[in-house]
Amino acid sequence: MTEPAVTLFEVGPRDGLQNEPETVPTPAKLELCNRLALAGVRFIEATSFVSPKWIPQLADGDELAGILPAFPDVVYAALVPNERGYERFRKAAGALHLTHVFLSASETHNRKNVNCSVAEQLERLRPVFDAAAADGVPVRAYISTVCGCPYEGAVAEAAVVDLARALVELGAVEVALGDTIGVGHPAQVRSLVAAVADEVPQERIALHLHDTYGRALANVQAGYEAGIRRFDASLGGLGGCPYAPGASGNVATEDVVDLFESAGIVTGIDLDALVDTTAWLERDVLGRPLPGRVYRARLGARERD
Ligand code: HMG
Ligand code: MG
Repeated sequence: MTEPAVTLFEVGPRDGLQNEPETVPTPAKLELCNRLALAGVRFIEATSFVSPKWIPQLADGDELAGILPAFPDVVYAALVPNERGYERFRKAAGALHLTHVFLSASETHNRKNVNCSVAEQLERLRPVFDAAAADGVPVRAYISTVCGCPYEGAVAEAAVVDLARALVELGAVEVALGDTIGVGHPAQVRSLVAAVADEVPQERIALHLHDTYGRALANVQAGYEAGIRRFDASLGGLGGCPYAPGASGNVATEDVVDLFESAGIVTGIDLDALVDTTAWLERDVLGRPLPGRVYRARLGARERD
C-alpha cells in the first residue's frame, strides 16, 4: 500500500461532538471511532478531559477512553486543559497515545475558554508537558484564534509565532494552528505558516481550520502549497467551539480527502467508507443533516444511481 503523503487528523469525535446540543451516548461515540478507524483514519481525537461543567457533552471521556477499539496503526488522542485533565488521561486505560493541550493567541478567547490569561495557561500547561515527558507521552499543542478572535478581531502574527516557539520549548511535538472562527484566508495562511516555520520545524506544524466563511478548503490548499502536510478535519463538517459564538464546524474530512486524492495525493482514507460513516452519524445518531459538500454530493450521486 502506498504510504499517505498527507496526514489527516480526525477531530469530529471531540471538536464535533463537544458542540452538539444533545450529548451523544457513549456506545455511539465508540462506534464512531471504530468506523473511522476501519475507514483508514489513523489519527483520531476521541474526546477531551476538560471540566464536565464546561463541556458536558464529553463528560464520558474516561469511560470512552477505556473501551476504544485497539488497532495497531491507529493513534487516539484526548484534549486536556490542565494537570487534572492529564491525570484523567493517564488513568484512562486503553488506547490513548497522544495528549492535546490548547490555549489561544488572543486573551479574551483564552479567558472565555479556559478562564485564565494566556500566560497563566502556559504556566498551567508546564506540569502537563513535564508529566507527559516523564511518561513518554507525546503532546500536541493547539493555538486557537490564529487568524482572528471572536471578541478582539485581528490577532497579531507575532503573538502566534511567540506561542508556537514557547510551546515547542515546553516540549510540544506538534503545533496545530487553529482558525477557530474560520476567518482566515489563503494569503493569511501562507504568511502565518511562513512566519511560524521560521521558528518551528515545518514538519511539526499542523493546520486546524474551521469553515465558517467557506474558506477552509482553500486554506488547506494554501497550507499544502506552503509545505504543510498535516491537517485536522471533521467528518461531514461537524464541529465548532462553544466559546466562540457563531463558529461553525471544521473543514469536512470528505472535502479534504477528495481535494488531495483528486490531485493524486494519497490520504490513506477510504472516501466511500467515510461517507457511510457520516451518513450513519447523521441518520442514526444526530438526526440532522451535516454540511460537508463532498459528503452531500456523494450521497446525492448514490441516490441517483
Ligand atoms: P475553572 O472553573 O476556572 O477551574 O475551569 P477550576 O480549577 O476552578 O475548576 C472548576 C471545577 O472543575 C472544579 O470542580 C474542578 O475540580 C473541575 P468543582 O470543585 O467545582 O466540583 N475541573 C475538572 N474536572 C474534570 N477535568 C478537568 C478539570 N479541571 C477542573 N480537567 C477549566 C478551568 C480549564 C477546567 C475549564 O475552563 C475548562 O474545562 N475549559 C475547557 C473548555 C473547552 O473544552 N473548550 C472547547 C475545547 S477548545 C476548542 O474547541 C478549540 C480547538 O478545537 C482549536 C481551535 O478550533 O482553535 C482545540
Ligand atoms: Mg476547533
